[in-house]
Amino acid sequence: MKINENFLKIESSYLFSTVARKQREYQQAHPEADVIRLSIGDVTKPLAPVVIDAMHKAVDEMADEKTFRGYPPEYGYDFILDAILKHDYLDRGIELEKDEIFLSDGAKSDCGNIGDIFSVDNKIAVCDPVYPVYVDTNVMAGRSGDKNENGLWSNIIYMPCTAENHFTPDIPDEIPDVIYLCFPNNPTGAVATKQQLKKWVDFAVEHHSLILFDSAYEAFIVEDDIPKSIYEIDGAEKCAIEFRSFSKTAGFTGMRCGYTVVPKKLVFNGTSLNPLWARRQATKFNGVSYITQRAAEAVYTPEGQKQIKEILSYYQKNARVIYDGLKQAGFECYGGVNSPYVWLKTPDGYTSWEFFDELLEKCQVVGTPGSGFGPSGEGYFRLTSFGNAEKTVEAIERIKAAYKK
Ligand code: MLT
Repeated sequence: MKINENFLKIESSYLFSTVARKQREYQQAHPEADVIRLSIGDVTKPLAPVVIDAMHKAVDEMADEKTFRGYPPEYGYDFILDAILKHDYLDRGIELEKDEIFLSDGAKSDCGNIGDIFSVDNKIAVCDPVYPVYVDTNVMAGRSGDKNENGLWSNIIYMPCTAENHFTPDIPDEIPDVIYLCFPNNPTGAVATKQQLKKWVDFAVEHHSLILFDSAYEAFIVEDDIPKSIYEIDGAEKCAIEFRSFSKTAGFTGMRCGYTVVPKKLVFNGTSLNPLWARRQATKFNGVSYITQRAAEAVYTPEGQKQIKEILSYYQKNARVIYDGLKQAGFECYGGVNSPYVWLKTPDGYTSWEFFDELLEKCQVVGTPGSGFGPSGEGYFRLTSFGNAEKTVEAIERIKAAYKK
């Protein structure tokens, strides 16, 4: 037996696992410390009441032989696909068909699994910093080449996102086969305008590149002119796959539900990608549980929409508290509007991990080091607004007390 040696190339621990381990170790060494976690973007508010009601009802159905359900359809029940299609697309003027939507256990899995349908010979382009799943899964698949001393993979095209370009990537000199884009962005909190996305769509169509568009954070968009879906851009159905998630939108991080849109017009070298993804999912995935699908359906009811908006505004207020507080403490910071993440510059002379350690020691606050998202994230740090409101205020007060000049 030979192992997949690509796994030997990547760090043995996933970024958020490393952060969680460091928090655990600190807590064990300081059992009395009230550590506040503003690191992984994990929600803290309970599910909306309509979602809970829908789940109770679904549990009762599963308890009765007359209404019990076994394996769900591989790509989702019609009731949830119809709700997604209408609410997230048709009502917004985007023409799609139901069999272009594939329900799944979340955007993270789909972003990682999508590489199954394209060749190992493709060259990918990623923003730097970037959600680590895009890079790590391509390393595992053998698409990355080797890592150099600057932490860059030799066969990956990096598109630096820095304060200078307002954290929006420039078109690279080399033409990528596959381009990962995520807006609102994880980790920087930046958004892309219609014109900026149009530039990418035109480029991808012209060069026959595929855009993988992660819009897991679209529910945080508050500005009307910021697109929530790549398909708001003409031509995107010919060059883009879109990933969506109920995790941040409706607090489903522990429920696991998302979906991926693969338009039938996506054709590369004469082959449509839609049936390839359908085949991949039917073979390796057995569908989302009935109870979860009913829960997701409830999100789209008028009451569900009202309830999730209240929860989202709770997190949006946290984002404001973090952003304003950090500014008052003298930090340079970004994001926090249209996004649950605030991206801050570490104090002069501190690497991201040095700041992580000091923040934990001095303030008992855990964040995520920017360098964990890629070399251009060095010297930055990410805080999330998904925490409890009182704890978030407390965390920011501690940071102000420790750093305000
Ligand atoms: C994050 O903190 O970046 C996200 O929670 C990760 C994820 O959604 O998998």
